[in-house]
Amino acid sequence: MPQTIRDELLYKGSILFCDHHLSHAASAFLCSPFEEAAILTVDGVGEWATATCGVGRGTEITLTKEIRFPHSLGLLYSAFTYYLGFKVNSAEYKVMGLAPYGKPRFDEQFRELIDIEEDGSFHLNMDYFCYDYAMRMTHERLHGLFGGPPRRPGDPLEQRHKDIAASLQKVVDEVMVRLARSLHEETGIDRLCMAGGVALNCVANGHVLRETPMKHLFIQPAAGDAGGALGAALYVHNTLLGRPRTLTFRDPFLGPAYSDEDIESYLVSVHAVYQRLYRQPLLDKTVELIEAQHVVGWFQGAMEWGPRALGNRSILGDARNAGMRDTINLKIKFREGFRPFAPTVLADHISDWFEIDCESPYMLLVANVRENRRTIPSVTHVDHSARIQSVDREMNPLYYDLIQTFYRKTGTPVIINTSFNVRGEPIVMTPRHAYECFMRTDMDDLVIGPFWLRKEDQPPIPGLVRGDKAFAPD
Ligand SMILES: [Fe+2]
Repeated sequence: MPQTIRDELLYKGSILFCDHHLSHAASAFLCSPFEEAAILTVDGVGEWATATCGVGRGTEITLTKEIRFPHSLGLLYSAFTYYLGFKVNSAEYKVMGLAPYGKPRFDEQFRELIDIEEDGSFHLNMDYFCYDYAMRMTHERLHGLFGGPPRRPGDPLEQRHKDIAASLQKVVDEVMVRLARSLHEETGIDRLCMAGGVALNCVANGHVLRETPMKHLFIQPAAGDAGGALGAALYVHNTLLGRPRTLTFRDPFLGPAYSDEDIESYLVSVHAVYQRLYRQPLLDKTVELIEAQHVVGWFQGAMEWGPRALGNRSILGDARNAGMRDTINLKIKFREGFRPFAPTVLADHISDWFEIDCESPYMLLVANVRENRRTIPSVTHVDHSARIQSVDREMNPLYYDLIQTFYRKTGTPVIINTSFNVRGEPIVMTPRHAYECFMRTDMDDLVIGPFWLRKEDQPPIPGLVRGDKAFAPD
């Protein structure tokens, strides 16, 4: 690897290596607000580790426990993602979204698959899996145990599939809670930093927060392998080179941004019809559209870091309308309708609307909607839970003010926030991506920078067919 790096990049300096899970740990701890914290990393596999526990103090990270391949919570989740007919290493979050529709009646079968110790360490029964020696995830024995062959993508989702997803999620919750508890017992620290793909499982994160002595949880938004670069850079900077920690991760808007002039010159180039509005009139108009049950594309400022749209590349809608979920699912996302949308709530109202007493700025925590607040059906799951994003004014003033305007008008400080993309495509990045996504879906309006575009005003784009995935942005 060093030789390849030198040859391909013509690089002459020193080359340092950072283990996969150490990178995860560093990406969680070294940019956390904590001087001292417990650390938990859980993923599919990196080198040989699949989970590590440890502690961070100042610029030092000590990993004290490790679970090794093939025993892997991430790979267990991926194996069932495959078995349930979804794309491995990509659609695990759909399995999480499916779980609340099921009853965990497969607990006994899962006990056959996995042994969980009191401290959260676990052992998989590899008779049921093939990923350690073949290009397949699951063995026929597993199919027998769970009552049939893997679901083929596109086949109907049966109750059995939902029940399996529910039991799987329960296992993940249990392992994560036990690991966090034992970390607290060992370290006496009630601040926890987490990373690795499994740290994106916001249902499990909610359980950790509610059911363990851990009081403060820090997970940066790119907690999966995409965050490894951040961790490796911080580890070299702070730990190996001994430079003081100066970065506390807060603002997730680290991606490309486009000036009003950039946006306008693109809109002009495609003969788009638009209106330019000042700040408050733009917010008033957007609120009016959401209230009128329009689906609104919202493209502002710099793009988010990590897999979630957090209010700069988002599709917005009225969370009070139960039908809005199907509208967005079918007309915009062209996807399965079972998954709920996530709400953005004003941070100062989060505890008033949800059973949670901390912020959730990166949409990484699930908690129940309060019983007296069951007025936001399109973001409330069948089990009354919601995948919450809270927004405070400091982090995103424009988005905050938009929801604040909506709140003043309607009394509801919550809107639907779903990522600005269609199924199977990444989130839009450039004005062109946004405009083309707007044009080939039934999105009603696009608010991009200070410009408002109505669908019915736009000239047709030659060759563009509604819902056409082949018309891919560059
Ligand atoms: Fe990883």
